[in-house]
Amino acid sequence: MIKESLWADIWAKIGAVGIRTKIMGIVAVCILCSALALVWYTYRDDSTFLRNQLRERGIAIGTELATHSLDLVLTHNQFALYTLVRDTRNTSEDVIYTFVLDARGNVMVHTFSEGFPSDLLDANKVPPGAAYGVQVLQTGDDTIQDIAVPLLGGKAGVVRIGLSEAKLSAALQNHIRNILLWVAVILVLGLVIAYGLASILTGPFAQLADAARAAGKGEFRWKAPIWAKDELGSLGSAFNEMSAELKHKEEMRVHLLAKVIDAQESERKRIARELHDETSQSLTSLMVGLKSIEDVSSVSQAKEKATELRALAAQTLNEVHNLAVELRPSLLDDLGLASAIQRYAEEYSAKMNINIDSHVSGLSEQRLPPEIEVAVYRIIQEALTNIAKYAGAKNVSIVLRRRDSSLVAIVEDDGKGFDVNETMFSSDGKQLGLFGMYERASLIGGKLSIESYPGSGTTVFLEVPLKLDGRDDGQNKIASG
Ligand SMILES: Nc1ncnc2c1ncn2[C@@H]1O[C@H](COP(=O)(O)OP(=O)(O)OP(=O)(O)O)[C@@H](O)[C@H]1O
Ligand SMILES: [Mg+2]
Repeated sequence: MIKESLWADIWAKIGAVGIRTKIMGIVAVCILCSALALVWYTYRDDSTFLRNQLRERGIAIGTELATHSLDLVLTHNQFALYTLVRDTRNTSEDVIYTFVLDARGNVMVHTFSEGFPSDLLDANKVPPGAAYGVQVLQTGDDTIQDIAVPLLGGKAGVVRIGLSEAKLSAALQNHIRNILLWVAVILVLGLVIAYGLASILTGPFAQLADAARAAGKGEFRWKAPIWAKDELGSLGSAFNEMSAELKHKEEMRVHLLAKVIDAQESERKRIARELHDETSQSLTSLMVGLKSIEDVSSVSQAKEKATELRALAAQTLNEVHNLAVELRPSLLDDLGLASAIQRYAEEYSAKMNINIDSHVSGLSEQRLPPEIEVAVYRIIQEALTNIAKYAGAKNVSIVLRRRDSSLVAIVEDDGKGFDVNETMFSSDGKQLGLFGMYERASLIGGKLSIESYPGSGTTVFLEVPLKLDGRDDGQNKIASG
C-alpha cells in the first residue's frame, strides 16, 4: 500500500512536469548514460591494452639487456655492466630502475641513486624454466611492472627492470577528460535541440488546448493550427472537423428552436382563430337557438328547434374534437404507437395516392414509454411528409419492430432520393425537418441514420434501445434510455 502510494506520488510529480522538461530530461539522461558507458568501456579496454603494451615493451627491453649483459656478468666487468644498465634506464621514461644480480643473488649493479631497496630482491622470482617473470608492484601512488629475465636460465644471474605505469595512467586520464569534454559539448547541443524540438511540439498543443477551451464555451471561431501533415496535424484537423460539426449543430439547434417557437405561436393563433371563428360562433348560435325555444308556441315547434340545435351541438363537438386530434393524435394516447402509425399510414396513403406497405411486430403486448411513442411517431410522420413533398415515390414501406431491448423503425421509399451529406451540411438552414428527426432520436437515446442517393430512393433507419426496469414478473415496464 505504502509502495503504491509512493509510486502514485512520484508518478503525479513526473506527470505534472511539462512535456518540454520531460523531453529535455530524457535527452540529458540518455546522453549521460551513454557517456558513462563509453567512459567505463574506454577505461577498461584502454587500460588493459596499454598495460599489456608496457609489459611487452618491458620484456623486450629486459631480454635485450640480458643478452648484452651476459658476457659482462660472466667476466665481472662491473663498469661496463653499470654503463649498460644506466643507458638502458635512460632509453625510456617509463623505465625507472634497472639492476643485475649475480648467480648467488647479490646485486652487481643498480640505478638507484638513494641506495638499493633490499625488499625488491625477492619481489619477483622467476619460476624455474621460464624465460622471464613479471610482477606488478604498488609503491605509494605509482604502480610498477617489474620484469625479471634470467641469465643462462638463472645460473649466471638475473636482469631486472622496473617500468612505471604513471605515464600510462596520465595518458588514460587525459583520454577520459577529452571524452568528458565532448560529452559536455554533446549534452549542451542535445539540450538545445531538445528544447527547440519540444517547443515545436508543445506550441501546437497549447494552441489546440486554447481552441478546445474556446469551443467548450461555444466559441467556434478558434481553429487548431495545422503546420504539417503529421500526427499533430491530423489531430488538429480532426479537432477542426469536430468544431465545424459542433458549430453547424449549434446553428441548426438555434434555427430549430426558433422554428419551434414560431410554430407554437402560429398554432396558438390558429387555435384562437378557430375557437373564435368557429366554436364561439357555433356556441353563440346554440345560445340564441336555446333562447328562441322559450318563445315557441307549440311542442312540435320546440322539437323541431331542438333537433336543429342538436345538429349544431354535434357539429361544434366535431370541430372541438378535430382541433384536439390535430393538437395531439389521441390514437397514440389511447391505442399506442402501432395503431396510430397504421391509422396515419392508411389516411396518408389515401390522401397522397402513395402505396404504403406497413409491417408492425412485437408491439401488441406492452405499451412503450410515452416519450418514445411520441418521438417515433413524429419521426415517421416527418419522413412520410418529406416523401410526399420531395420524393415523388410510388411505394413506401414502413417497418416497426420491437425486440426485447430495442425498437426499430424503418421508412423506405422508391422516390428520387437526395444527397444526405450535402443537404445536412448545406448552410441554407433548410434541413430543419431532418435535423429535428436526429434531435428527437438522440433525446430518447436512439440512433437515426438516413441512407439516400440521388435516383435510388431513401431509407430512414431508427433504432431506440429499451430498458426493462428489472422486475421479471411478466409485467415488466419498459423505460426509455
Ligand atoms: N424522402 C426524400 N426524398 C427526396 N428528398 C428528400 C427526402 N427527404 C428529405 N429530402 C430532401 O432533404 C431536404 C431537407 O428536408 P427537411 O425535412 O429537413 O426540410 P423541409 O422538409 O424542406 O422543411 P421542414 O421539414 O423544416 O418543413 C429537402 O429539401 C429535400 O430536398
Ligand atoms: Mg421536412
